[in-house]
Order: sequence, then structure tokens, then C-alpha cells
Amino acid sequence: MNTKYIDLIEQTYFFPQEEFTLDGEHLKFHDIPLQDLVEKYGSPLKFTYLPKISDNIQRAKNWFGNAIEKTNYKGKYQYCYCTKSSHFQHVMHEALKNDIHIETSSAFDINIVEQLKAEGKLKNDAFVICNGFKREQYVTNIARLINNGHRNCIPIIDNYEEIDLLSEVIDDTFKVGIRIASEEEPKFEFYTSRLGIGYKNIIPFYKNQIKDNNKVELKMLHFFINTGIRDNAYYWNELVKCLKVYIRLKQICPSLDSLNIGGGFPIKNSLAFEYDYQYIIDEIVNQINITCAEADVPVPHIFTEFGSFTVGESGGAIYEILYQKQQNDREKWNMVDSSFITTLPDT
Ligand SMILES: Cc1ncc(COP(=O)(O)O)c(C=O)c1O
Repeated sequence: MNTKYIDLIEQTYFFPQEEFTLDGEHLKFHDIPLQDLVEKYGSPLKFTYLPKISDNIQRAKNWFGNAIEKTNYKGKYQYCYCTKSSHFQHVMHEALKNDIHIETSSAFDINIVEQLKAEGKLKNDAFVICNGFKREQYVTNIARLINNGHRNCIPIIDNYEEIDLLSEVIDDTFKVGIRIASEEEPKFEFYTSRLGIGYKNIIPFYKNQIKDNNKVELKMLHFFINTGIRDNAYYWNELVKCLKVYIRLKQICPSLDSLNIGGGFPIKNSLAFEYDYQYIIDEIVNQINITCAEADVPVPHIFTEFGSFTVGESGGAIYEILYQKQQNDREKWNMVDSSFITTLPDT
């Protein structure tokens, strides 16, 4: 009878795979013998295989590059790393080797940005996209970054009061983006995302608070779908709705030139994972191209903020099975020496 774990793997998946191979009975991850790691460091153990971070960033840049070439797209692609996925220094340093930009979501992210700049790891002209609900400390820190000369820091307005709060503490003119509050998937229990400004309110908000405000220049429209970038009617529908807002805004706001489609790339969290990244990106770029051409509006530069995609496939956690608990006559539960939830690769 086949009762071993390897039997289950071999019957269920194609194995070995690109990242997982076997050396005799022992598992290797990107050619690193995991048994050696355990013998050296014990368990529980959380590790990061740094080359995978650069590899994924380069893969995304290539896919967008290909799509831009195929569709003769006139805008640029900018890869931002969503820092909240992992703030570890070794992760940030590796990601920043790839000429990327940063997306922040809280006050202390700005301290990290300042430190990275001081160390020469983040360029002075890198984009720093500040998302999230902005409490006092976050506003203060964003203002300090901009007042110290980081002109490519773009706070994304999440809430009506933020323009005034930022204007009070930023000395000079500054760039902003607006986040669209996407509508949730129909089967979800809530209707609209808690973040951003509803579709219908974007144009009135621009007219009332930005258009005649000499201090503020609108550069970016931001759109993020909680459920991620997926090939389904909901995603394409939300993208088209967002593009319609982009076009209407662009027609009255010449400084607007960027569309940020957020994060949300799925990652390989199962050996059966299949996802055609190039196809999805081709479709997104093509859709933006067509919609803008129909409206006779120049295409935007495209920004993404991939978090999980940047780090999630680079990390692993090793646990020891301490005990097998027989809970009924058929099921045994493995009791491990840590907690899955606190050691996820992108926490
Ligand atoms: C504004 C924004 N950008 C990017 C991300 C990163 O998403 P992901 O890890 O799915 O790429 C998130 C995640 O919640 C987010 O809220």
C-alpha cells in the first residue's frame, strides 16, 4: 500500500518541480538541501531565498516589456514593491537591486524609505507611492520626505480630508494620486472597498478640491482589487470602469499621466499552481490601449505594487512534527513546533 507522503505527492502533482527537487530522500529548494539547514539551525526555521525576489521582479518587468512592445504601447511600466509584505532589510535590499520603486502604507514605512535613501539603496528620483488611511504621524512623515526634496513621493488620497492635511504641512507644491474605491465582488458581503473614493465621487472631488488648488498636481489614478488580478468577468469589468474614470479625468486634468493597478498577482502556493501571467498582462495593457485610443486620450504610465508576488515565493518555513494526534479513527493531525499564520512567507 502507498502510505508515504511522497506517494501522495507523486500521485497528485508533477514532481519534481522547478523549485522543489529531491536529493535521495531529502528535499531541496532551489538546489539548497533543506536537511542541511535544519541540522545547522534547528526548527522552527524561517528562511528566504533572496535570488527568487530579483527573479520575480525581472519576470514581471519582462512580461510588461513584452506586452508594451506587442501593443506598441506608448507609456512606461514602473514596478513598485509593497513594503508591508515584508519589511526585512535583506528583503528590501534585494528587491532594490532591480531598479524599482516603493509603495508605503504606514508612517514607519517612511522612516524605512529615509533610511534606504541615506544608505544609497533607494534613488532620489524613485517613486514613493503612499497609500493607506493617513493618520497624523503618517502625514507628518510624508511631508518631511517631500519637504526634504523627494519630489517623486506621491501620496494617494484615500479620504477627502487628506488633501488639506497634507497641504498644511508640505511647503511647496506636491503631486497626488486618487484611489478609486473598487466595488467588491457581488458574492462578498460588503459592497464597496473601505479604501479610496467611490467611482462616482472622483470627478466631483477633483473639481472641488484639486482643480483650483495651486499646491496640488494630480498625477495618478489608483485602483486595487482585493481579490487580485484574475481572468474573470468581475476583474475585467472593474478595470473597464476604472479606465472610464481615468479617461474622464484625463480630459479635464492634463497633468494626470499614470494608472496604478495595485498588487494582486497570485503566487505559487500549491504544487498544482497554474497562471498565465503573460496572457493577463497582455490583456491589461491591450485593454488600456484600446480604451484610451477610442477616447483619443494618451495612454497612462502603468504602475504595479506587487507584494506577495515579490516575496511570497522566496520564503519558506520549516517545522518539526512533534506529535501525531489521532482525533478519530481515520484522521491524524500533525502538531508542529510553531504557528503557520505567524510565519507566512509574506508576513
Ligand atoms: C494598495 C495595495 N497595494 C498593493 C498590495 C499588495 O497586494 P499583493 O500582496 O496581493 O500583491 C496591497 C495589499 O493589500 C494593497 O492594499
